[in-house]
Amino acid sequence: MLSFRQLLWLFFNLAFILLSQCTHAKDLKSSCHTCKQIADNFIKGLDQTKKQNFGGGNTAWEERALSKYETSEIRLVEILENLCESSSFDCNHMVEEHEDHFETWWFKRQKKHPDLYKWFCIDTINVCCLKGTFGPDCNACVGGSERPCHGNGVCDGDGTRGGNGRCNCDHGYKGEFCLDCIDGYFNEIRNDTFSLCTECHSSCKTCTGLTNEDCEECKTGWGEDDEGACLDVNECLNDPPLCKEDQYCLNTDGSFSCKGCDKVCSGCTEAGPDKCQSCAPGYQDTEGTCTDVNECEQPEAVCTAGNQECVNNKGSYICICASGYEEQEGVCVTIPDHVDHNHELNPNQVKYTVVTTTVTEYSLKYCRCSCIR
Ligand SMILES: *[C@@H]1O[C@H](CO)[C@@H](O)[C@H](O)[C@H]1NC(C)=O
Repeated sequence: MLSFRQLLWLFFNLAFILLSQCTHAKDLKSSCHTCKQIADNFIKGLDQTKKQNFGGGNTAWEERALSKYETSEIRLVEILENLCESSSFDCNHMVEEHEDHFETWWFKRQKKHPDLYKWFCIDTINVCCLKGTFGPDCNACVGGSERPCHGNGVCDGDGTRGGNGRCNCDHGYKGEFCLDCIDGYFNEIRNDTFSLCTECHSSCKTCTGLTNEDCEECKTGWGEDDEGACLDVNECLNDPPLCKEDQYCLNTDGSFSCKGCDKVCSGCTEAGPDKCQSCAPGYQDTEGTCTDVNECEQPEAVCTAGNQECVNNKGSYICICASGYEEQEGVCVTIPDHVDHNHELNPNQVKYTVVTTTVTEYSLKYCRCSCIR
C-alpha cells in the first residue's frame, strides 16, 4: 500500500507533468507561428532592400555595385535587424538563437532551397510541419494531409509541431471526420471522403431535404399538418390568452411576443389608440379612438374648493390655486403684497456702480498713456 505522503508526492508529480505538457503543446504551436512571421518578414526585408545602394542609373559601375550588395553580409544584417518588433521577446530570442542558420542559408543554401520558411522552420529548426500535418513527427491530420477534416474543419496543430491532429468542425458539421451534419442540417452530398451539409427549412428540427415537407421532426413552435409538413403554430389563438391584459399578442414564425397596448387603452388587439378593447380611465371612445376626457369642461365642476382653477392633462386633471393665491396647508390663500424691488433705489447698489465706473476709467486712462509712450 502507498502511504499518504507517497500518494501526495505522486499527485503533485502527475499534476506537474500534465501542466508542463499543456504549456509545451501551446509553445510548439506558437513557436511555429513566430517562425512563420520571421520567414515572412525576411521576404519583406529582401524586397525592401532590393533597390538599396542603387542610384537608379545603369552604369556598369552601378550594376556591379548592386550585384555585390545583393548577396552581401551588409544586406543580410540589414534584413536581420528588421525581422522582429523590439517588443516581441519570442521573435528576438528565436532570431538570436539561430543567427548562424540565417547566415548559412544566405551564403550557402539560398540557391538550392529558395523557400526560407520550409528550409528554416520545417527542415532546420523543426518548429513547423508541412500543411495538413501536425505534431513532433509531422503526422497526417485526421482526414489526411490533402484535405484535413475533409475540408469541413480545422485540424488541431495543422502545420506545427504541436496539437493532436483532431478536427474542430466548421458550423453545420460534426463527428471525428466532420462528415456528419448537426441538427438542423442535412447531408446534401455524402460519400466516404466528401460531405456537404445544408441548412434545413426553419420549421425543421431535423430533416432530409430543403423544404418544410422534408422535416423529420418539427421545431418547437411548429406543428405537423395533415400532409406531414411543419407549419407555424399561432400561439395568439391560445385559450386562455398567453399575454397580460394590457398587452396584445403578436404571432411570429415559430414563436410569438407580447407587446404593450397604447396607454389610452384598457386591453387591445394591436398597437395604437384605435385598437383598444375599451378605453383607459380618463379616456373616452370618439369614433373608435380613445381620446382624453377634458374634465375641466364637464358641466359639473371638478375643482370645488375656494379660489381653485382646473387644469386638464392627459387622462386626468389637477386643481391649482388661481392667480394671486398660493397654497397653504391645503387651502388657497391670498398672497400678501410684495415689495417691488425694481423701482426702489438700493443705496449699496448705487455705491457699487460708482466704484466700478471709476476703476474702468482709470484703467482706460492708464492704458492710453502706456500705449502712446
Ligand atoms: C465523393 O464525392 C465527391 C464530390 O461529389 C467526388 O469528387 C469524389 O470523387 C467522391 N468520392 C468517392 C470515393 O466516391
